[in-house]
Amino acid sequence: MKKWTGIIIGIFLSVSVLGENGYRLWLRYNTIDNAALLQQYRQQLTSISCPSDNGRLIAAHEELQTGLSGLLGKKVPLQMAVINGTIMMGLPSHLPFIRTLVGESTLAGLGNEGFIIRTIRRDGKNVILIAGNKEAGVLYGAFHFLRLLQTHQPIQQLNIISTPKIQLRLLNHWDNLNRTVERGYAGNSIWDWQRLPGYIDQRYIDYARANASIGINGTVLTNVNANAMILTESWLQKVAALASVFRKYNIKVYLTARFSAPVEIGKLKTADPLDPEVQRWWKEKTNEIYRHIPDFGGFLVKANSEGQPGPQNYQRNHADGANMLADALAPHGGIVMWRAFVYSNESPEDRFKQAYNEFKPLDGQFRKNVLIQVKNGPIDFQPREPFHPLFGAMPKTPLMMEYQLTQEYMGFATHLVYLAPLFTEVLNADTHSKGSGYTVAEIIDGSADGHSLSGMAGVSNIGSDINWTGHPFGQSNWYSLGRLAWEPSLAPAQVANEWIRQTFTNKKAFVDTVQQIMLASREIMVNYMTPLGLHHIMGYGHHYGPAPWYDKAPRADWNPVYFHKADSAGLGFNRTATGSNALAQYQPAVRQQYENINTCPEDLLLWFHHVPWDHKMRSGKTLWETLCDKYYSGVDSVRWMQRSWDRMKDLIDAERFNEVKQLLAIQEQEAVWWRNACLLYFQTFSRRPIPAGYEKPDKTLDYYKALSFPYAPH
Ligand code: GCU
Repeated sequence: MKKWTGIIIGIFLSVSVLGENGYRLWLRYNTIDNAALLQQYRQQLTSISCPSDNGRLIAAHEELQTGLSGLLGKKVPLQMAVINGTIMMGLPSHLPFIRTLVGESTLAGLGNEGFIIRTIRRDGKNVILIAGNKEAGVLYGAFHFLRLLQTHQPIQQLNIISTPKIQLRLLNHWDNLNRTVERGYAGNSIWDWQRLPGYIDQRYIDYARANASIGINGTVLTNVNANAMILTESWLQKVAALASVFRKYNIKVYLTARFSAPVEIGKLKTADPLDPEVQRWWKEKTNEIYRHIPDFGGFLVKANSEGQPGPQNYQRNHADGANMLADALAPHGGIVMWRAFVYSNESPEDRFKQAYNEFKPLDGQFRKNVLIQVKNGPIDFQPREPFHPLFGAMPKTPLMMEYQLTQEYMGFATHLVYLAPLFTEVLNADTHSKGSGYTVAEIIDGSADGHSLSGMAGVSNIGSDINWTGHPFGQSNWYSLGRLAWEPSLAPAQVANEWIRQTFTNKKAFVDTVQQIMLASREIMVNYMTPLGLHHIMGYGHHYGPAPWYDKAPRADWNPVYFHKADSAGLGFNRTATGSNALAQYQPAVRQQYENINTCPEDLLLWFHHVPWDHKMRSGKTLWETLCDKYYSGVDSVRWMQRSWDRMKDLIDAERFNEVKQLLAIQEQEAVWWRNACLLYFQTFSRRPIPAGYEKPDKTLDYYKALSFPYAPH
C-alpha cells in the first residue's frame, strides 16, 4: 500500500512539475508526437561528438543532449567515435577538415557567432556537422538545430549558414534593486539580489538558455532610472555571480550607470564630466568592475530625461557625458549605450522633436565605442508610431534600436498582442536618407553608414511569474526580439510559426489558427486603443486604460489632451509646417508624403494632422465615421480572436488553453471600455452620432471618467 501511494504521489508530482505552466518557454522538447517522423529522427540521430574544453561547447552539447533525449524519447550518448547519425560539433581547431569542407572565406565570414549546419559523409558515415569559427557559433548552431527538430523540419540534406546581422542583441531589464520592476507586469524581478552571490537560482540558467536559443547575447540587469548602489563592491559581487552563469551562454552583462554616482557613492562634489576628478573616479570604478567581471559589456545611460541627472546639469552636452564613460570603458573593450529618450521639463517644444534637436547636432562627436540607443518612435512605445526621425539623420554615429517588449501602453500582460509586426514595420520603413533610400534596418545594422558597432534592445517583459511573461503570448515577443535582432529580414509570420510549434504544438489546425490570431493582433489592438494615429491617450502615470480627457498632469506633455488636440474643428496633432513642423526632421521624401493630408498614410494621419471631423477619408467616409468604424472593428476582432481560440480547446493542454481564454475575456472587456470611453469623449467635440447599426455604449462618459486605479502597476 505504502509503495503504491509513493508511486501515485510520484506520478502526480511529475505531471504537475512537468505540467504546461509555461515555464519551459519554447524549449519544451516534448517527445515528437508524429510516429513516422520520430522513427526517422531516431535513425538519423544516434550520438553526439563534441569537445568539452570550453564552457560554451559544454553548454552546446548539454543542451543537445537534453533536447534530444526529450524529443526522441531516448538518451543520445556523447562519445568520440563517429558512427552513422553522429552530430559532430566543434571548431576548425578540433576538426581541421572543416577548413577544406567549408572554405576559409566562408569560415571567416562566420565571425564570432555564426554557424554552419551540414549533412555530410565523413569516414563513410552520414553525419551532421554543427560548426562555428568560435565556440559561440557552435552554441547557436546547436540551438538552431533543436529548433529544426522541434518544428518538425526534414534534416536529410541540411546546408545552413547563418550569421547575425546585428552585433549587440540585448534585453534591457527595468529592474530595481528592491526587486520591483518598472513597467513590469509579470511579477518581481528575477534577480534575487538578496540571496546573490551565494545562491544561484535555476532560473538564471534557464533564462540564459532561452536567450542563447534566440541569439540574445547581452543583458542590462538594472533599470534605466538607475541606482548608483549597483556600482558598489558588494553589489558588483552579485553581478559577477550572474555574469559567470551567463558567460557559458555567450551573454554579457551590462549595467545602467547613474550619472551622479561620483557624488552619491564616490563622495565627490560634482559629477561634471569634464572635471578630471570625476573622470578619474569613473576610470577607477570601471577598472574595479572589470576586476569582478572581466568580460563586462558596458553601460546603458538615461541622462537628463524625466528627472535623471546628466551632463546638462553641468552645462555639458550628451557627447561630453557619453565620451567620459566611453574613455573609461575603452581600455577594456566596453561600450556605452547612451539613450536618446530625452525631453526637457522646461522646453515648450513639441516633445516629438526634442531628441532630434538635441542629438543631431552632436553627430560625429561621440567616441568610437558609443552607440546612441533610440526608441523605435519619437514619443514612447505607442501602439503605432512613425519611425524615429533620428534614424538616418546621424550617419557618423551608430544608432541602436530600443523596442519595448513589456506592454506598458499595449494592455500590460493581459492583452494578446504579438509585436513582431510592429518591429518589422519600423525596420522596413524607408528613411530616404542619403537620397538612395535606406531602411531603418539598414541604419541600425550598420550597413548604411559602414558602422561595425550595431545593436537592438528590447525592454524586457520578464518577471518572476511561473511562465516568465505573465501572458503566455508575451513569450512570443521576447522570442521575436531575439530572432529579429539576429536576422531583421525575418517575416513575422515565420517567427510566429516557429514559436507556436515549439511553444504549443505542431498540429496544423492549431498552428494555422493561432498564427492568424497573432499576425492580426497588433492591428486589432491599435484599432480599439489608438486608431488612425492617435497616441498617448492612456491613463495618467500607470498608462492603464483610456483617459483621453486627462489634463491635470504636472507637465503638458504628459497629458493626453496635449497629444490628440480634439476640438470642435477636428482631431489630431498638426506637425506640418503650419503646426509644430516636426515633419521637417524627416528627409524630404518622407516629409512630403506625410505633410500632404491626402498622401499621409491613414494609419499615421492624426500623428501629423489636425483633421476636420468631416474630412473625407480614402473610403469616402468622414473622419468621424472612420474613427467609429475602427473602434468597433477592434472590439469585433477581439471577439473573433476569442471564437478562434475556443476552437483550439482540444488541441493543447487545458492549463494554457484556459489561461489564454480568461485573458482574452478580459481583453474583450477592456477593448469595449477603450472603444466606449474614447468615442463618448471624442463625440463631445465631433457632435456627431455613432453610426446606426453599432451597439451603443452601455455606460456614460462620466462613468468612465470616474474610474480610478491607484494600485495599477507602473
Ligand atoms: C516611459 C516609461 C518610464 C520609463 C521611460 C524611459 O516614459 O513610462 O517608466 O522610465 O519611458 O524609457 O526612460
